[in-house]
Amino acid sequence: MPKLPRIAAGNWKMHGLSADLAEARALAAAFPEPAVEVLLCPPATLIARMAVTLGGSGLRVGGQDCHASDAGAHTGDISAAMLADAGAAYVILGHSERRADHGETSAEVAAKVAAAWQAGLVAIVCLGETEDERAAGRTLDVVAAQLAQSLPEGATPANTVVAYEPVWAIGSGRTPTEDEIAEVHGFLREQSPDPEIRLLYGGSVKPDNADTVFAVPGVDGALVGGASLKASDFGAIVAALARA
Ligand code: PGA
Repeated sequence: MPKLPRIAAGNWKMHGLSADLAEARALAAAFPEPAVEVLLCPPATLIARMAVTLGGSGLRVGGQDCHASDAGAHTGDISAAMLADAGAAYVILGHSERRADHGETSAEVAAKVAAAWQAGLVAIVCLGETEDERAAGRTLDVVAAQLAQSLPEGATPANTVVAYEPVWAIGSGRTPTEDEIAEVHGFLREQSPDPEIRLLYGGSVKPDNADTVFAVPGVDGALVGGASLKASDFGAIVAALARA
């Protein structure tokens, strides 16, 4: 199988009102046919409109979470089928903010991943250690357990992307060293059910460190939070990935 393209995924988290669709429009204008896979994951309220905004460009849309069931009495939740129906092609699952804010376990993440596949979505499965776990030398144990428990049977390079996001690097402006990223990515590649499953790095990726991050062996792209909100910043990261 030919190697899949690298990925730049933007996670808007709980940011974004209608006016911010202008950023998506500007990104699509800058990269009508991106050389890498580019997607934005806005809040659920903007998914359908963003899908229309990006329609015709090579840019795609994703959700930030889904329920494990197709439909049902789950007030406030959204199913994977609904995300797909709104125009999403991906869904971020198991982000550390969901694991922390909502107590999501890896077993729950695995059930959501299965639901995402069922709906035809690519699951972007997040994992990563806390600062205390790194200090205790437990990083590899933590990510190995999260990987094993968050992926159900059946993960393939076509339906799954894994994002290594050290919790302490998210939104903090701090990043692991290149050696630390390389170590975890090399380890995850060995532990992965398929070595072709793409491994993204996430946590304070910015235009000024993107070239460095993308030069690390084993990094197949980035999951970008804060810097994905502005087309100029995210565009610089996409450009860095395209030339990596
Ligand atoms: P950040 O967020 O780029 O703002 O650190 C990354 C993420 O949480 O996916």
